Amino acid sequence: MTIDQREYRNAVGCFATGVTIVTTLDIDGDRIGITANSFTSLSLDPPLVLFCVDAKISSFEAFESCRHFNINVLTEDQMDMSNNFARSNEDKWDGVEHGSGKNGCPVFDGSVAILECDKHAMYEGGDHLIMVGQVTKMTYEAGDCRPLLYYKGSYANLS
Ligand SMILES: Cc1cc2nc3c(=O)[nH]c(=O)nc-3n(C[C@H](O)[C@H](O)[C@H](O)COP(=O)(O)O)c2cc1C
Repeated sequence: MTIDQREYRNAVGCFATGVTIVTTLDIDGDRIGITANSFTSLSLDPPLVLFCVDAKISSFEAFESCRHFNINVLTEDQMDMSNNFARSNEDKWDGVEHGSGKNGCPVFDGSVAILECDKHAMYEGGDHLIMVGQVTKMTYEAGDCRPLLYYKGSYANLS
């Protein structure tokens, strides 16, 4: 049976997710960041998480060769940042306020959670690379907050 790509996207888009910006540094130390909703937790012991990176995007090589990356879990207030880091744009970082994690990769204050990772493993997954990270440091909002959600190709809110 041939699977139509549009229909396939529609079907998998029925799975509601959060939204993250995954950051790293390339071999020259330049900042790299992409919006990603493929993030998931993987293992408790050791503490592993994963996300998937598209082999066709310009940030691919930086993620393939990196040693560390950070997962910034976004709030509703960070929707503009999500849109910015979903674009292929050389000026992605212009005017974007950020700090640096202990591992040197960018972090965004105001995120629901920040997971700093050492790269643990990589696996081929069709036209994506599955990036597994071991969490070395984390912060999160203990109180009420409103995470940014993604569902059926659009942002969504917790109602
Ligand atoms: C909600 C949302 C989720 C996304 N999730 C992923 C993802 O998990 N993996 C990925 O490689 N690209 C994902 N993208 C697309 C990338 O953000 C986009 O291709 C990337 O920012 C391109 O940047 P670059 O050209 O600078 O590499 C997503 C885009 C959106 C809007």
